[in-house]
Amino acid sequence: MRAKIIGTGSCLPEKTVTNNDLSALMDTSDEWIKSRTGISSRGLVSSETETTLSMAVSAGTSALANADLLPEDIDLIIVATVSSDFVTPSTACMVQSELGAVHAAAFDINAACSGFLFALNTVDAYFQAGIYRTALIIGVETLSKIIDWKDRSTCVLFGDGAGAAVLCADEEGIMANLQGSNGSGGHVLMCRNRTNNNPFVSTDPSMDYLYMDGQEVFKFAVKKEAECIQELLTQAGLAPTDINWYLLHQANQRIISSIARKLKLPLDKFPSNLDHCGNTSAASIPILLDEVHRAGTLAPGDLVLLSGFGAGLTWGAALLKW
Ligand code: ACO
Repeated sequence: MRAKIIGTGSCLPEKTVTNNDLSALMDTSDEWIKSRTGISSRGLVSSETETTLSMAVSAGTSALANADLLPEDIDLIIVATVSSDFVTPSTACMVQSELGAVHAAAFDINAACSGFLFALNTVDAYFQAGIYRTALIIGVETLSKIIDWKDRSTCVLFGDGAGAAVLCADEEGIMANLQGSNGSGGHVLMCRNRTNNNPFVSTDPSMDYLYMDGQEVFKFAVKKEAECIQELLTQAGLAPTDINWYLLHQANQRIISSIARKLKLPLDKFPSNLDHCGNTSAASIPILLDEVHRAGTLAPGDLVLLSGFGAGLTWGAALLKW
């Protein structure tokens, strides 16, 4: 049995911050941000009650309703995030408690922007092994709390949000998938956790924020994501034109356009929400999936290719029949 998506949900923060709002706070402009990235605005959490957990629960609740399942029906919850509210318990365990998904095993995955795909592929492996039959996976980030708001080259890129999918074991669904990592490239995109703090070690009191070598990440993304898609298509015995929709990680519109060009495909096969979401890391693919699903874009039987890359470095892709 393979994993089939039977419901989707998402949650964006209440507050929308435009490029012009940012240009009032720092030396940037709507023209620079839009032309370099395709981003016009992004959602940012703006109250203490809006958290990684609250957005994950909201997206998960919406996906369960969309799938017409109850929390008690779920065997497994995986949350993909690098910005959980607590070091422990995991966000997945907290989601389980909030939803009342009393029969589910729950854990988090940290694969940055590829996290949702790693979660999807993990569920597929569990289903193929016959261990579980239903799952809820959520990609969620409040990257705004780990971004250096004095670093204009990163802070304008990211947004907060959550996206979720409910899966059940079925004869049709995921047709092919892959994932990979290159830890030796991790230094181009990183964020340090709390430093040592015990009586026997001197501590650096400064908090670390997200660091990114934008041009290196850009080169990695364009090369690796295109290779990943080609490899998946070869695995499935399909040509680029056979795929109805490419839902790629929403990091930069120029990366998406470059991949469309490499595959010799029109851009209208590549839906995008960068314009109003920015880069929401692990949440970007499931938010986009929920948007196109709810807009009625995906028809039964459509071939949908999901692909992403992120810190680690990591990459992943999945081909599914809708
Ligand atoms: N506003 C105005 N000017 C800016 C800003 C800003 N917000 N940020 C940087 N600049 C300036 C720089 O200082 C530089 O000025 P200089 O020429 O006087 O030195 C100039 O703009 C060009 O900067 P570059 O870094 O060369 O700009 P580039 O064209 O490479 O675009 C960008 C930067 C958008 C970050 C690009 O490199 C990129 O998209 N990289 C990939 C990022 C990515 O995909 N990240 C996500 C990866 S995984 C994940 O999602 C976590």
